[in-house]
Amino acid sequence: MTSFDPVADHDSTKPSTADAGARRESDANSLSLGTDGPLMLHDVALVEKLARFDRERIPERSPHAKGSGAFGELEITEDVSQYTKAGLFQKGAKTPMLARFSTVAGELGSPDTWRDVRGFALKFYTQEGNFDIVGNNTPTFFVRDPMKFPDFIHSQKRTPDAGLRDNTMQWDFWTLSPESAHQVTYVMGDRGLPKTWRNMNGYSSHTYMWVNEAGEKFWVKYHFLTEQGVECLTNEEAGELAGLDGDYHRRDLFNAIDGGDFPSWRVEVQIMPYEEAKTYRFNPFDLTKIWSKKDYPRIPVGRFTLNRNPVNHFAQIEQAAFSPSNMVPGTGVSPDKMLLGRVFSYPDAHRNRLGTNFNQLPVNRTVVKTNSYDKEGSMEFFHSGDAPVYAPNSFGRAYQDEQGPVDNGWEADGTLVREAYTLRKDDDDFGQAHTLIREVMDEGERERLIETVAGALETVIEPVLSNAFEYWKKIDQEVGERIEKAVRGDQGDQVPGADPLSE
Ligand code: HEM
Repeated sequence: MTSFDPVADHDSTKPSTADAGARRESDANSLSLGTDGPLMLHDVALVEKLARFDRERIPERSPHAKGSGAFGELEITEDVSQYTKAGLFQKGAKTPMLARFSTVAGELGSPDTWRDVRGFALKFYTQEGNFDIVGNNTPTFFVRDPMKFPDFIHSQKRTPDAGLRDNTMQWDFWTLSPESAHQVTYVMGDRGLPKTWRNMNGYSSHTYMWVNEAGEKFWVKYHFLTEQGVECLTNEEAGELAGLDGDYHRRDLFNAIDGGDFPSWRVEVQIMPYEEAKTYRFNPFDLTKIWSKKDYPRIPVGRFTLNRNPVNHFAQIEQAAFSPSNMVPGTGVSPDKMLLGRVFSYPDAHRNRLGTNFNQLPVNRTVVKTNSYDKEGSMEFFHSGDAPVYAPNSFGRAYQDEQGPVDNGWEADGTLVREAYTLRKDDDDFGQAHTLIREVMDEGERERLIETVAGALETVIEPVLSNAFEYWKKIDQEVGERIEKAVRGDQGDQVPGADPLSE
């Protein structure tokens, strides 16, 4: 993304070279002692080639390993300056960007069409630094405390002994974490199988902060609404595709852009005035909840279009590092505990996955100059020359020391505790999941949900199976009973003693 062009460093028309530049004698034949003799350790070309091959793979992302993406542009068509001073959100602004879509639980080679949440990660290369929104195609999440996130991911990945995905493990975690009900209902519904990445919406899910020029603060949720229309796969279609073309979603996005069919999304936000969060009927920072659109209607902001494929998947997608910690003036985080945990976790994952200087890789590099006293570490490429390496200093190198309340902060006070959020009137785990089933889904969708859940429960063992029936009955009594009946057959209706064979 910078004026530095990594491809220009290579001349693919010339004979191949060693990595240090000299011509390589052969790409086909190793150096041997006589035609049929042993190989030489000083065959630099062979040793370098094998050593580089041995190191081609970097660790895959711990969650969200399988994905792909494309570059594009965000254009702001509406005036939202009353809510944020961020340059990228000012009317008329056009900002280059990168999007990456992914599944969560599957590994790098897993099929795109397994039922799962889809990652929806956006990086905007703004004139004030990089700004990332690392969201999903669902407006909520399974848990509300970052302490639970690694356990949640473990339960979706593989068993310690056989190394298998295991429905009992998944339902065990979900049913013992009732705050998952809303998200589980969403994922077991039609939207758990998007037809393509182009046919799904994206959401910040979290509540973030916006700050305007006057210093007024607002809480904001981002919505990215597909202009291709929401379309989903059936279980049968998804299962078949998983076998026929595991890269179905990756291929679809690449081919569409390659053919000039550029996908786009409308950008809209829900805005909650800062003070209203204190008295809203449920905790507006709880990631398992959506805000009512009646209370906070969506406001149009602009749209983004993806119009350029990567030319090198590894360099531009695999090495991309998205993080909710990438903020710009006029934006900020919120008291959402999950979000606060993520702000640490992502750059830490990047340091591990890509190395200390991951921000210097072209795909992650800012379009503006940086001036950081952080230095050195593996693979440092950009640096501050011979400028002073400490702050404060008397030799002219700028540094920063703003004091007092930060403009995107909030008030907090109290004793240090380990506790769930304070409950408000409408804070419960099952209410919004019930509304989703009863008021958003029609009977056809409910029927498919029941079928999907019953299918997923087929291999689940006790006591988790009974817990799962109870979990669904708490979400919706009738749907829970229908799920139980679908799994147990008429046995589910029998009361102890009513079985003639038991008499
Ligand atoms: C990827 C941690 C919750 C969306 C990741 C990665 C980590 C992580 C370590 C891999 C990063 C990398 O290697 O580049 C966490 C933690 C969470 C959390 C600790 C909760 C405390 C969430 C939530 C969302 C989300 C709530 C969505 C709203 C994503 C996406 C990616 C990702 C989209 C893939 C980014 C990409 O395409 O590179 N997460 N995550 N995560 N996470 Fe989370």
